[in-house]
Amino acid sequence: MFGYNYPMGIQLTDSYGRKINYLRLSVTDRCNLRCQYCMPEQGVGHKEHHEILRYEELLRIARAAVAIGIEKVRITGGEPLVRAGIIPFLSQLAAIPGLHHLALTTNGLLLPELAVDLHLAGVQRLNISLDSLRPDRFALITRGGDVNMALEGIGAAFGAGFPPPKINMVVMRGINDDELFDFAALTISHGVTVRFIEYMPAIADDHWPDRTVAGQELLDRLSTRYRLESVDKGVYAGPSRDFRIIGAPGTIGIITAISGHFCNECNRIRVTADGRMRGCLFNDETLDLRPILNRNDDHLLQETLKGMISRKPQQHGIEPGQRTVPHTHFTMSGIGG
Ligand code: GTP
Ligand code: 5AD
Ligand code: SF4
Repeated sequence: MFGYNYPMGIQLTDSYGRKINYLRLSVTDRCNLRCQYCMPEQGVGHKEHHEILRYEELLRIARAAVAIGIEKVRITGGEPLVRAGIIPFLSQLAAIPGLHHLALTTNGLLLPELAVDLHLAGVQRLNISLDSLRPDRFALITRGGDVNMALEGIGAAFGAGFPPPKINMVVMRGINDDELFDFAALTISHGVTVRFIEYMPAIADDHWPDRTVAGQELLDRLSTRYRLESVDKGVYAGPSRDFRIIGAPGTIGIITAISGHFCNECNRIRVTADGRMRGCLFNDETLDLRPILNRNDDHLLQETLKGMISRKPQQHGIEPGQRTVPHTHFTMSGIGG
């Protein structure tokens, strides 16, 4: 076995000179919701248990990634909190020397039970998906979810001592875009960060261009009610551009997944729960890490991660308005956004 040392300050760059310091690690493709934009109506076939990486394998990947220069890990799903044993796994992950930031994206439903344990395990920040504040609409978008459970989850995150969570709202024209002001107001009343995300064509949906609301339109609409100022990005920041309603404790982020071409700042790689490494959300080139994991050679694992990083594409190929999208065989629940 190759022994690790953890030299600080390694710079991992891809072939376009982008600094790669952020790993999104999906721990399950299962979820306790069925969001319309994430899963097709008929649902998705879940991976069998033996197809999903064991925690020990996920930890090896994370250690290898940190050893080559990854500094932030975000745990995603599906819904990561539905996987049994998640808390001890997160404690081990948080203890990896050289990992500076551990975050998790969740739909919040299980936070009333788990928020305190997550905090104690060493998770530093939570991103919580919430697409409507209205019970009937939330149920429609999530195909049956209870908005009060999600709101209780957000409350539990505060109660457990986390910094104010980032609330992710996927904006869909004609479905929830009339709630922009209500969500923006949460940055004043609750000090949360609210991120408005351009709806992306993650499932086959020929009508997606009609649903996506471009980030600029979102800003224009918000500016009719609020005065916004720009806020600098944090060091491990993701793709959001951040603003603040003047005087508000919380901030507003705009994630222009389609219109923005933030690809030139992309700092991340992804590994799915079944062990496939992915250089870009919208590029179907994946690399199965399981054969490498089976070889039990962590140096090889590091070199494999580096090789895939060097093949990271320059940008996704989706143009605003393009009706058909190049990828048809991934679901967001399998990748974790
Ligand atoms: P932080 O900045 O670390 O808080 O995370 P994040 O915003 O990257 O993560 P989160 O899991 O909250 O995802 C927010 C939205 O950004 C989701 O809709 C993701 O699908 C989207 N997103 C994250 N990374 C990328 C990316 O590389 N490309 C695209 N197109 N969208 C992304
Ligand atoms: N478009 C935009 N965002 C999406 N997410 C899931 N599917 C989509 C989509 N089609 C978001 C979820 C979650 C994050 C990880 O990804 O709302 O907050
Ligand atoms: Fe579950 Fe998140 Fe997908 Fe909704 S978007 S079905 S909460 S994984």
